[in-house]
Amino acid sequence: MAVAGQVEFTADELLADAPVSEPLIAGGVRCHGGFDEDGNYVSPRTRFRVPAIESWQARHTELFGTSTVEVPLETWGTHYPNEAQARFLIGAGVPEPLIATLTRIGTVEGYGANIRLLKPSNLQRHFVEDIRGTAIDHLGCGLFEAHGRDEAGWEEEAGHKDMWFAARDMAFGGPPPDLDIEAMLARMGFGQGGAAGLDAPRLLPTDVDGDLELIVTLMIRVLFIEVSAFHTFRWAEAWLSDPDLVDGDGEAAKLVGYIRSDETPHVGYLATTLTELRDRTWIGESGQHHPGTEMIDTLWQHLLAQSLGPGRAANRKAVVGEVAHWCRRRANGEDILAEFHSLGDAAADLGDPHVLGGAA
Ligand SMILES: [Fe+2]
Ligand SMILES: [Fe+2]
Repeated sequence: MAVAGQVEFTADELLADAPVSEPLIAGGVRCHGGFDEDGNYVSPRTRFRVPAIESWQARHTELFGTSTVEVPLETWGTHYPNEAQARFLIGAGVPEPLIATLTRIGTVEGYGANIRLLKPSNLQRHFVEDIRGTAIDHLGCGLFEAHGRDEAGWEEEAGHKDMWFAARDMAFGGPPPDLDIEAMLARMGFGQGGAAGLDAPRLLPTDVDGDLELIVTLMIRVLFIEVSAFHTFRWAEAWLSDPDLVDGDGEAAKLVGYIRSDETPHVGYLATTLTELRDRTWIGESGQHHPGTEMIDTLWQHLLAQSLGPGRAANRKAVVGEVAHWCRRRANGEDILAEFHSLGDAAADLGDPHVLGGAA
């Protein structure tokens, strides 16, 4: 086990599993993680990673006297559609939009693995203060790789992507044969895939290394996705746990709960790294110094506005389009659709009829 206060770790250590007595197998799929002797779920690759994050945070507070950056879940609205709307669609015999949503979540989780494509090294040259013994210094030495493996799976163990698909298939007895996943993802705005956001415009002084800006941008974007996803977990667990509504005796909801616990170290290392970056002085390529507080704040504000505005609107438009698509294949589709909208939360649904008009 990690030694208390240890702040230097090898990539192998940060990728090491904690011992488990039993593997996690869900719907016949061998997943990452497992269970300890008492039957508690143990997330993958947490043997050293979790104590490491605690040590880096403690050391940062000791050296800088500041607290870790936080972004409360309440920053984002609750999941759309809401639980009542999800339950209604399934009850009305239109489960496809929910199947589509679970597929979309799994797909997005898989894209999260792109973070491992960043292989930062020699980051010290960008900062005045020492970065030894920090999360920053371990990004390219196990942290991004562990994150990528958690999201997309590794070797024979399924990661979040396939775990969401397994949850979907347990709840709905497998995707119906007429559900064209590719067409559905294209309707929901997932045509190209790839590393969304890697071509973002520069926001920091041009003197700041472009790769550094890209890495920090991606980390903030992913942190926002990770935190706001807790609304999605809460929502999915609420209706997937109802054996009167879906198949699988609540096993799908349990699987989503395990995925949720795996996300905690992701939020942990991202918030720790961003805090360390915020409290350091950055060195531009010309040698000019820039306060980390300004660098982080500039990107943070821009990306938060993006997440709360266009990002959320695009997501809602995709969901409404998908619901309308499937309702209209039923004889009483317009009635089902009207009822679906009537169950929405007033504030969350603002403007939907217009969106629907454009998407239909
Ligand atoms: Fe995930
Ligand atoms: Fe994650």
